Amino acid sequence: MEADFAAMLAIVNDAANAYRGVIPADRWHEPYMSTDELAREIAEGVVFWVAEQDGHLSGVMGIQDKGDVALVRHAYVASNTQRSGVGTSLLRHVESLVDKPVLIGTWAAASWAIDFYRRNGFTVVPSGHKDRLLRTYWSIPARQIETSVVLANGRWMEAQPLH
Ligand SMILES: CC(C)(COP(=O)(O)OP(=O)(O)OC[C@H]1O[C@@H](n2cnc3c(N)ncnc32)[C@H](O)[C@@H]1OP(=O)(O)O)[C@@H](O)C(=O)NCCC(=O)NCCS
Repeated sequence: MEADFAAMLAIVNDAANAYRGVIPADRWHEPYMSTDELAREIAEGVVFWVAEQDGHLSGVMGIQDKGDVALVRHAYVASNTQRSGVGTSLLRHVESLVDKPVLIGTWAAASWAIDFYRRNGFTVVPSGHKDRLLRTYWSIPARQIETSVVLANGRWMEAQPLH
């Protein structure tokens, strides 16, 4: 279990290098996720799933129950394994565990991540909803709200009144 913990952090901090120079400089820090932060996220109810290849961890993805919705949190695939379907398998798996709408928050500048979610059936929610959703379901600073987008799966989109 502790070995898994270290291996999970290694995947997160390796994959998060993709953000370097892309996300706002004032939000980048190294390591991107600390041991304490991962422990805190688990204590706050993020359930992590991992993918393995040849006995090594290749990806991690968390899902967090927030009552009327579930959030996908901390999706990371080892940089040498990206674009081979690991993220898609993990996303399908965590989505299959819940029967409520699923939301995902990511950096607006992480265009590859937005493409990844869109090709897996998620839609960027209209900006009018975004700030409210981030404030309601996430605990992130105002600066991160400004620079993030929220994507939702079909179940969430269907539940919205038509405008
Ligand atoms: C986003 C991420 C989790 C997706 O996992 P993955 O295993 O690479 O994704 P899959 O192989 O299942 O799907 C690949 C698709 O995702 C998108 N994608 C993933 N990585 C990409 C990259 N570096 N550049 C462009 N598109 C990318 C593309 O649409 C790609 O399809 P394509 O290869 O046919 O163009 C992974 O790439 C990652 O860890 N990236 C860095 C960290 C990150 O952005 N995490 C998201 C946090 S919300």
